[in-house]
Amino acid sequence: MSDKKIRLGVLSCGRFAQRRILPQIIKIPSFSLCAIHNRTLSKAREIAEHYKIPFYTHIEKDFFDYPHLDAIIICSPNYLHQKHILLSLRNGKAVFSEKPMTPTYEQSQEILTELTEEKTLVIGQCYRFKNTLCVAKKLIKEGKLGNLLSIKVHMHMNIPKTGWRMTKRYGGGVALEIGVHVIDSIRFLTDSEFTSIYSLGKQILDDQQEDIDISFSALAEMKNGLPVSFDASLEAPYSTGFTIVGSKGFLESTYAIRGDDDGRESLTFFDNHDGSFDVPLPKQNVYYEELAHFANVIEGAESQLTPENAAENVKIVEALKLSMSTHKRVNIEDFVLA
Ligand SMILES: NC(=O)c1ccc[n+]([C@@H]2O[C@H](COP(=O)([O-])OP(=O)(O)OC[C@H]3O[C@@H](n4cnc5c(N)ncnc54)[C@H](OP(=O)(O)O)[C@@H]3O)[C@@H](O)[C@H]2O)c1
Repeated sequence: MSDKKIRLGVLSCGRFAQRRILPQIIKIPSFSLCAIHNRTLSKAREIAEHYKIPFYTHIEKDFFDYPHLDAIIICSPNYLHQKHILLSLRNGKAVFSEKPMTPTYEQSQEILTELTEEKTLVIGQCYRFKNTLCVAKKLIKEGKLGNLLSIKVHMHMNIPKTGWRMTKRYGGGVALEIGVHVIDSIRFLTDSEFTSIYSLGKQILDDQQEDIDISFSALAEMKNGLPVSFDASLEAPYSTGFTIVGSKGFLESTYAIRGDDDGRESLTFFDNHDGSFDVPLPKQNVYYEELAHFANVIEGAESQLTPENAAENVKIVEALKLSMSTHKRVNIEDFVLA
């Protein structure tokens, strides 16, 4: 690691940035937090004062014009991700953007075409660092479960039915907001890609009188032949977990895909003979790990959170939503994008 700190700016410091990102950034020795933006000036000022950040603004242009930054972290609502990623890259910054990469696959592809060897773009998928998933994946690889037979994953929460998260044109909806975590977790666990998907879901009318997805259940097949089922909801009590079934035993995890660092998650292995044991999971903060990874990528490490990977997640979200609205199974390879 070089002695020079990475001068960092955070764009769109809303609830997520304040609760999850800023408190971790300041713990990462290679970062120096130099600038922040929030669309409300008083909030930007308050955050800057709290963290002693030299530059703050509510004007996007002023944030991008601030010359003393090496890297930008984007925490804006989903519909702004493409614009903010492209502006940051074109300004020569290393970029970390929150999931989903963009609301549509077409927008993600437009970003991919801008990338060159010299540009750094990392897309947040914090659960790739989650011990529940990493340890489960290791046990699968070591053959502890035998041949894999099925995987089931879910993520439920109950959120207010207003704001950008519940507005289609702002990139809201359950599939983009949390379905993307579930989809990425399945791809990560299986080291395989989706080949087809069938999904049923519930939609409601948003503030703009457009249909928005609020919950879904999906069945899919992976390239390695594995059947997976998963569901997500923005109107159910908080719950997230997975079950991975193999010929020699199965794994069950509660609080499996969850950002809190209170150590409540569990992973239990059940063998073929009714025996079971809890797999130890060290406490962790996935946001710290993800952001520290971003710092390492800037310093030359290979990225585990590539834009190509994130674009594939967006593609599966689109296929899922297409299946939901047509009530038909969608083959990913023949999938013609709107
Ligand atoms: N990886 C994870 O675990 C995780 C978890 C949560 C969120 N996220 C991602 O983080 C990003 C930000 O989420 P958040 O919860 O922080 O959102 P948020 O608090 O609702 O808003 C983020 C920022 O955008 C501004 N904003 C709100 N609505 C807007 C609109 N319609 N147009 C323009 N700006 C608007 C807010 O300004 P004000 O503060 O002035 O309202 C705030 O600066 C999203 O991409 C989300 O998917 C990731």
